[in-house]
Amino acid sequence: AALFPAAGPLAGRHILVTAGPTHEPIDPVRYIANRSSGRQGFAIAGALAALGARVTLVAGPVALATPAGVERIDVVTAQDMADAVAGALPADAAVMVAAVADWRVAAAPHKVKKGAAPPALALTENVDILATLAHDARRPRLVVGFAAETEDVVAHAAAKRVRKGADWIVANDVSGDVFGGDANTVHLATANGVEHWERMPKDEVARRLAQRIADALGS
Ligand code: CTP
Ligand code: CA
Repeated sequence: AALFPAAGPLAGRHILVTAGPTHEPIDPVRYIANRSSGRQGFAIAGALAALGARVTLVAGPVALATPAGVERIDVVTAQDMADAVAGALPADAAVMVAAVADWRVAAAPHKVKKGAAPPALALTENVDILATLAHDARRPRLVVGFAAETEDVVAHAAAKRVRKGADWIVANDVSGDVFGGDANTVHLATANGVEHWERMPKDEVARRLAQRIADALGS
């Protein structure tokens, strides 16, 4: 529930944000994870709320405080995240910042014990939450994805935008120390081409993106 009356350019809008990693269990005590801190996604959720949006933040396992005015749903696995996203619709816009695990494991019901040989992990591809949402009958008017890349950042981002059916892809250069760091270098791929943003704090990336979203939904 909103703690203060919504005012600002996104008042009356519902925006869905995913953030953080997902954890895919191997057995009851072990899991596969990634280095996402969730900070960029949480900053975006907070910046959207600050512009008056009602924000649903679907968060993987992270050690972060919930931004002011944001409704948070905590999840663990990619499948949990997909279910939470579907359950939060309809939305005017979605910003999928989460570093969703690409694969899950058929989890063992009991702790796997050491034996003669190491166990093999059989990986299964997870559902693509962004692509599913982009092709859903209840697709938000504006669907924004993130792309973490270490090489050919712009080309990969532009290809991902088309492949996944997103309106925008925010391409994130993760060849440096972006995971867990304070700053980010991003490129915004839209149907009109690619904009290069200078390196700036994650909070500033969030504010600029939130303002762009407000501009897009306002028109
Ligand atoms: N994404 C998603 N569900 C997945 C995988 C990714 O919703 N199962 C979303 C991410 O939240 C992000 C975008 O898709 O917004 C791009 O994620 P990324 O990992 O860069 O792309 P992939 O398609 O998984 O390709 P790859 O990891 O091979 O580069
Ligand atoms: Ca991926």
